[in-house]
Amino acid sequence: MRALKILFVTPEVEPFVKIGGLADMVGALPKDLAKLGHDVRVVCPAYGSVKRDETWHPLPEPLGVEVGAAVQWARTWETVLPGSTVPAYFLENHDHFARPEVYTGPWGAHEDNDMRFAFLCRGALALCEQLGWIPDVIHGHDWTTGLLPLMLNTTLRDTPLGRTATVFTIHNLEHQGWSPMRVVDFARLPWGEIRRDALESNGMVNLMKAGLCHATKISTVSPTYANEIRTADGGFGLDSVLRFRAGDLVGILNGIDDESWDPARDRTLPANFSAAALAGKAACKAKLQERFGLESKPGVPLFGVVSRLASQKGLDLLAEALPAVMDRMNVQLVLLGNGDSRLENTFRWAREAYRGRCGVQIGFDGNLARLIQAGSDFFVMPSRSEPCGLTQMYAMRYGTLPVVRATGGLVDTVQNFAEGQPVGTGFVFGDATVDALRDTIGWACATYYDRPVEFAGLRQRAMAQDFSWRSSATHYVDLYRWAVQSRTGTLPE
Ligand code: ADP
Ligand code: GLC
Repeated sequence: MRALKILFVTPEVEPFVKIGGLADMVGALPKDLAKLGHDVRVVCPAYGSVKRDETWHPLPEPLGVEVGAAVQWARTWETVLPGSTVPAYFLENHDHFARPEVYTGPWGAHEDNDMRFAFLCRGALALCEQLGWIPDVIHGHDWTTGLLPLMLNTTLRDTPLGRTATVFTIHNLEHQGWSPMRVVDFARLPWGEIRRDALESNGMVNLMKAGLCHATKISTVSPTYANEIRTADGGFGLDSVLRFRAGDLVGILNGIDDESWDPARDRTLPANFSAAALAGKAACKAKLQERFGLESKPGVPLFGVVSRLASQKGLDLLAEALPAVMDRMNVQLVLLGNGDSRLENTFRWAREAYRGRCGVQIGFDGNLARLIQAGSDFFVMPSRSEPCGLTQMYAMRYGTLPVVRATGGLVDTVQNFAEGQPVGTGFVFGDATVDALRDTIGWACATYYDRPVEFAGLRQRAMAQDFSWRSSATHYVDLYRWAVQSRTGTLPE
C-alpha cells in the first residue's frame, strides 16, 4: 500500500498549545500514522503563548496568504512533534495570532475569530503550495478548519490542490463558529455558497456547517457520538446536515498516547506503579492528599476531577450533589479545573466548607492533572454530552475508576460494574440529574468499603484496557484511503 501524504490543520496541538482533548488527539495520532509509514505533517497557529524551544527554526521565505483585500504575510516556524520526526509548522502573524489565547480572551470569544481561522485555513494551503508538497488528504479539526474543504471545492478547485481529499473531524458539535458575513469576502469565497444548504445558518456564516457540507469524508471521535449527533436531541441544530451526509460519516474512537500516559514511566509522579505493583499508587494518593491539604487517610476513597468547567461537563450536578455527598459519605474530593466563573466560585466555597476533605485548584496545570489521575480512587465525569472524553481513559490506565454518565464516548469506553460478576471498569449512570450522580458516587463509595475484592478486580480490568492509538490509527488510514478514492476516483495503491 502506498504511503499517504496527510496534512493535519488544527487550532491546538499538544505539547505546544492545549485547551482540551483536541490537542491531545492531534499531538498523538500523527505519530502513530508516521509509524505506519505515512508522510504526516501538522499546521497550527503560532499564538503568543505557544511553547517554543530551541528546535524551532523559521523557514527562509515568508508565506503570502491570499485573504482580505491584499495578500497578508506569515512567518512559518518548523519543528517536530516531540519523540517523532513528524514536521509541525506554526504560522506567525501579528494581527491574527500574537495574542496569547486560542479562542477566547478576557472578554469572551475573540470577535475576529472568523478572520483568524480563515487565515489559518488559507495559510495551510499556501504553505503546501510553497513547499511543493501536495497532500493526498487534509485532515481538519472542528469549526476553525471548516472553511478549508470549501476553499478546495471552490476557489482552489482548478489548482493542483483541487484533487486533495479532505477529512473533517468533529470534536465537539456544540461549538460551531458562528461568524459575520464579512468572512466570505475575507476568505475570497463565492457568495453563491451563502445558502441554507451550505454556509448559512440564521443569517450568519456557520463554519462548522461549511466543513460538514464540503469535506470529502466526516469523522467524529466515538461511534456513539456519531449516532447521537444525527438526532434532534444531540445534533445542536446540525442533525439534518449530518443525516444528509450520514453515508460519509464515521465514528472512530480516540486513542490515548500510552507512552506519555503510562503510570509505570510518568516522570511527573512522585512514585510509579503498574497493575502488578500498586504500591506507588498509594504513594501518589498520599502526595495528592498532602498537596491539597487533605487529611492523610489512606483508607478513605478519594474522588478526583480534572475538567473544563463548562455546562457540557455536568459539573454543576456535582456542585449541587456536594452537600449530600460530603455530609453523608466518608469520602474526599479533589478538583482541578477552570472555566465558568460561577462554578469556579461554587467549588472555592466547597473547599472552605469541607476543609481537609475537599481540595480545589482553579486553573490549568498539566502535571497536577496527572497527579490527580494517579492518586485518586475514582474519577468523576457527569458529562451532559461527551464526544469522546480522554480523561476517563487516562483514569483507567492509572487505576482510577471512572464514575460517568452514559453519553457519547463514555458509553464506548467505560463498562458498568455488575455486583457479584467479574465485569466492569467503572460506574455508569443514565440520567443527567443530581440524584443519579449522588447515588452512583454512593454506590462507588460502598463498593470501595464493602467489596474490596471486587473493587480490586475493577481496578485490574480498568488498567488492562488497551486504549492506545494503534488500532484507531489504522481506522483513520482506511478513512483517508476512502476519502482519496472518492475525491480522485482511484484507490491509492
Ligand atoms: P475536553 O476536550 O472536552 O476538554 P477531554 O477529556 O477530551 O475533554 O480532554 C481534556 C484534556 O484536557 C485532558 O488531557 C485533560 O487532562 C486536560 N485538562 C482539562 N482541564 C484541565 C486542567 N484544568 N488542567 C490541566 N489539564 C486539564
Ligand atoms: C472535544 C470533546 C471531547 C473529546 C476531545 C478530543 O474537546 O469535548 O469529548 O475527547 O474533543 O476529541
